[in-house]
Amino acid sequence: MARRKYVVGNWKMNGTKAALDEAQAIFAATKDHDAVDVALCPPFTLIGPMIAAAPGAAVGGQDCHSAASGAFTGSVAAPMLADIGASLVIVGHSERREGCGESDAEVKAKAEAALTAGLSVILCVGEPRGVRESGGAIDYVLAQIAGSLPAEFDPSRLAIAYEPIWAIGTGLVPTVDDVAAMHGAIREKLGQQAGAGAAEGMRILYGGSVNAENAAELLDAGDVDGALVGGASLTAAKFVPIVAAAAAL
Ligand code: PGA
Repeated sequence: MARRKYVVGNWKMNGTKAALDEAQAIFAATKDHDAVDVALCPPFTLIGPMIAAAPGAAVGGQDCHSAASGAFTGSVAAPMLADIGASLVIVGHSERREGCGESDAEVKAKAEAALTAGLSVILCVGEPRGVRESGGAIDYVLAQIAGSLPAEFDPSRLAIAYEPIWAIGTGLVPTVDDVAAMHGAIREKLGQQAGAGAAEGMRILYGGSVNAENAAELLDAGDVDGALVGGASLTAAKFVPIVAAAAAL
């Protein structure tokens, strides 16, 4: 079964209403790529407006709480995202694992809450620079998967994003061989943990300094099914060529 390519923009804490024009331009320019799924994950404040500006487009959150409601000041629950029309959510991004101290168990609970709410999930994993340099990157990432993969899921609704922390926002990228080795190891682990059907059906995205110049090479690496893009997803000029590179494969 061929997996459709998946290119997702993570706007992080960037964008106000003025940026909706860019989102509209991105969705307008990419909607004809039949073989590629495209989504944008803006800040919470822009999810509703972005869906209104681009009806039918896949728009998602960058995080959600593991509880469905309750006394969690400042948090947003997965059913709330679904309620405003979001179709996906990112969980376990390294900026939350590291910046907010999120554990594997917490990431797993968030992913399960999101799936229960009917959302698709992009579950992020990735090693810090020191771990890569000491040769432990694959073990580190597989342990993250062991601890944060939901117990049960529909493989078409759960994607993994491999994002080496040292590659995020730095302009550094792993070699294509290193990306392929990591993605292959992740897929093998998914098979062991969730079964052959999951390993075959799940998409594994690469993230970390993806841009128009390096996208084709990274997207063509073994077991890479798409990209999670930060900085280069903020404008149509930078993001649309990345989607085009995926469509050309
Ligand atoms: P970047 O971010 O493309 O700006 O490196 C990727 C991410 O953190 O998802």
